[in-house]
Amino acid sequence: MEKRELLYEGKAKKVYATEDPELLIVSYKDDATAFNGLKKGTIPGKGVINNQMSNLLMSRLEERGVPTHLVRELSDRETLVKRVSIIPLEVIVRNIAAGSFSKRYGVEEGAAFDAPVLELSYKNDELGDPLLNDDHALALGLASREELALIRRYAFAINGLLRDIWASGGVILVDFKIEFGRLKDGTVVLADEISPDTCRLWDAGTGEKLDKDRFRRDLGGVEEAYVQAMKRLTGGL
Ligand code: TMP
Repeated sequence: MEKRELLYEGKAKKVYATEDPELLIVSYKDDATAFNGLKKGTIPGKGVINNQMSNLLMSRLEERGVPTHLVRELSDRETLVKRVSIIPLEVIVRNIAAGSFSKRYGVEEGAAFDAPVLELSYKNDELGDPLLNDDHALALGLASREELALIRRYAFAINGLLRDIWASGGVILVDFKIEFGRLKDGTVVLADEISPDTCRLWDAGTGEKLDKDRFRRDLGGVEEAYVQAMKRLTGGL
């Protein structure tokens, strides 16, 4: 499958057309941004790790009944995926208080929840990805009631599966963000990526951060954290 024209360039990925209108090639970059693009940088090797990690995790999820956009990995940085129209929702699942949850609700980072928390944001950079609920999403016509119910079900199932996978590598899955898309026939599938860019991953022993918070918060050891996260994942599989 060959790359054709560049369809879209995002903060961390490029998307190309192929000769098949229902298939796209995603190419992962080393570029990193935070705070809605305010902070910019490069994390050498990130694109390769995110590509491979996302594919490993999505294939595990597929095996366990979660439909995804993944078709096959083409190279270090490139993957063939099904074309979807992205549902403009950032679907966040939290197991432990951190990040914007801690800030918004005044809860110390590290407090574990009795049950996972599902959060939705409107994927809209101009508005700063505002938090919303199902009724807001319905009012804005972002998804149907059925789709919202399915997304909720998938998100919790994905959380359970990913938590177990990471736990095998000695890593706590604190929280993560996923996105869903619709195939041509309307089927909802998991799309985008699952990587240290989109998850909080803490070492179960030391609490060390193995994710993009090292970049967001200038903690240093950013590249090493991505390498370590990948090692833990492949070691635990
Ligand atoms: P938050 O605590 O900053 O809301 O982040 C929750 C999770 O979502 C965390 O694992 C990081 C991820 N995330 C993204 O993937 N993209 C984003 O733009 C933001 C803000 C968070």
